Amino acid sequence: MHRSDTTMDDEKIAFLKERLRRAKKLMVLTGAGISAESGVPTFRGQDGLWQNYNVTDLATPQAFAANPKLVWAFYNWRRNLISQIKENPAHQALAILEESLPDFTLVTQNVDGLHRRAGSKNIIEIHGNLWQVKCSQCRQKYIDMSVNMGTLPLCKICGGLLRPDVVWFGENLDHQLLQRVEETAQTCDVLLVIGTSCQVYPVAAIPMIAKNGGAFAGEINTEETPITAGIDITIIGKAGEILPLLVK
Ligand code: OAD
Repeated sequence: MHRSDTTMDDEKIAFLKERLRRAKKLMVLTGAGISAESGVPTFRGQDGLWQNYNVTDLATPQAFAANPKLVWAFYNWRRNLISQIKENPAHQALAILEESLPDFTLVTQNVDGLHRRAGSKNIIEIHGNLWQVKCSQCRQKYIDMSVNMGTLPLCKICGGLLRPDVVWFGENLDHQLLQRVEETAQTCDVLLVIGTSCQVYPVAAIPMIAKNGGAFAGEINTEETPITAGIDITIIGKAGEILPLLVK
């Protein structure tokens, strides 16, 4: 007789919950999937942003140089969208988990700021933050929460053209942040990967760095990913439904 999928899922959830409870140093890696239930579109997959928009027109330094108005229109649209939605139970569960563990690091590829809104504290935003801008002339960075930054926003300090402080394709990640992330991956005893397709490097290498460092690695995703075969446990399901069960 075959056991039902539900029983297997319950067992996996109980098992992962116990590993999390015993974690001495937990690293959590999140991607667009954790914000999907809040209403933020993911990038890949059926309704992903990159199905409907061309990444080379909107999220590369070349695109910004060629047509900054179009790139700003895209980021104003995202600011507006995200200003209208709320963090979901998955973000909230991670904030609760952080409170109960001695050493917790949340690394997110998301630029939406929803983890912070949910109350997470030790966050590394490895792809930047939508609400932060950077001057392309004087390099000054600052937070600007405006829902609409205007057609071509200018730096308050030098008048140079502002850009979103996010990492675009073809750009390097902040070296020090990446080093911190890799060190955390090497030394954590549990890694939890949530809602990322694990296709964009260097972040996609993090699960294997953690595995090679001896960590137990778990994954929550609505489908299998390129890392599924190489890690310890994958729970197929929505982050907003699974994560609250893990912290209950
Ligand atoms: P993707 O859009 O590539 O992947 C989203 C993942 O979330 C997929 O594996 C989905 O199966 C999963 N997913 C969707 N809904 C979910 C849910 N409710 N619960 C759990 N999982 C769910 O997004 P990322 O992996 O984050 O980079 O993409 C990585 C980077 O590529 C982004 O940071 C962005 C993008 O281009 C930059 O902008 C530099």
